[in-house]
Amino acid sequence: ATFRARGLHTQANAAPFSIVFDIDGVLIKGKRVIPQTRRALELLHENNIPYIFLTNGGGVRESEKADQLSKKLGIQVNPDHLIVSHSPMRALVPKYRESNVMVVGGAGNSCKDVAEYYGFNQVFTPNELHQADPSVCPTSTCTEEPAPLDKSVLEKVKKPVDAVMVFHDSEDWGRDLQVCLDALVSQGGSLGTIKKPEELHTKQSVPIYFSNPDVVWSNEYPVPRFGQGSFKMCLEKVYQHLTGQELEYTSYGKPLKTTYKYAEALLDKIAPLQAGPDGQPSKRTVYAVGDNPYADIAGANGYGWNSVLVKTGVYMPKGLENHHVHPATAVVEHVEDAVRWIIAKEQ
Ligand code: G3P
Ligand code: MG
Repeated sequence: ATFRARGLHTQANAAPFSIVFDIDGVLIKGKRVIPQTRRALELLHENNIPYIFLTNGGGVRESEKADQLSKKLGIQVNPDHLIVSHSPMRALVPKYRESNVMVVGGAGNSCKDVAEYYGFNQVFTPNELHQADPSVCPTSTCTEEPAPLDKSVLEKVKKPVDAVMVFHDSEDWGRDLQVCLDALVSQGGSLGTIKKPEELHTKQSVPIYFSNPDVVWSNEYPVPRFGQGSFKMCLEKVYQHLTGQELEYTSYGKPLKTTYKYAEALLDKIAPLQAGPDGQPSKRTVYAVGDNPYADIAGANGYGWNSVLVKTGVYMPKGLENHHVHPATAVVEHVEDAVRWIIAKEQ
């Protein structure tokens, strides 16, 4: 039976703590729903526990991601209770509203739709650049049928780039590494140019923003897959080799504090803190459930939240990246055990 979530929790009987769920590797693995997810969600509603979803995934509007998740999980996911990797990047709109922004990642031009929905008014994609001039990346084929681009797009791809924003995992690393590098070493953002020799030692020509630091993530494949963090590492290495300079960038997503601040503001909205006996708002208690020690656990720990690590995703005892240690409040088998552990702890 489809499970009807209660939506906004009535503050009167809401549990005095909240749970923040990571998605990939905790609730789902690619197209597959993790078996214990359904019972975990039932426990949340039976105990009236306020919760939100906080993912380093994205590439689509929050409403679209919520629809995708609703269909997979069999519940009605409220898009206002879901944060994707680029959600906090809305904060960049005032600065870049009319700037010429190259938005990278996602399928085709999907991230262009998201960026324009947020309020960026001059957006183009590597896909459109490639359509306008296939020689920009001879080793890739255009994902769209080669059709003449309309005049407004041609103007954007010819205008100097003011900023590069990577909104999601690239679907064509060769092409996207190439066009990001082109922007970074260009004269004032003009693609197809190189800085003058006497300027090459100066820093990159355009700022670059990344939405998700995950080096790996967990889908239905038996072992973790490259994430946007691996793409960034490749770009950093090529940029450093070609210019002798370190790439400067701004990162969003877990474990960055900006992301947790954004999530806390959402929790304040859906589960306002009740005043304690002294009349002061009580301290917020949050449990973050995740599969990636370097994103979910490090991020929660760094923000003073409890962290619960599941073994259904990136984390494998003695697995990759195990040389970094991020001690979780608890380590459990899967998301149902995580919810049961939290309920028992709060009883
Ligand atoms: O691209 C998605 C991936 O990096 C991880 O997503 O839900 O595990 O934060 P999630
Ligand atoms: Mg995950």
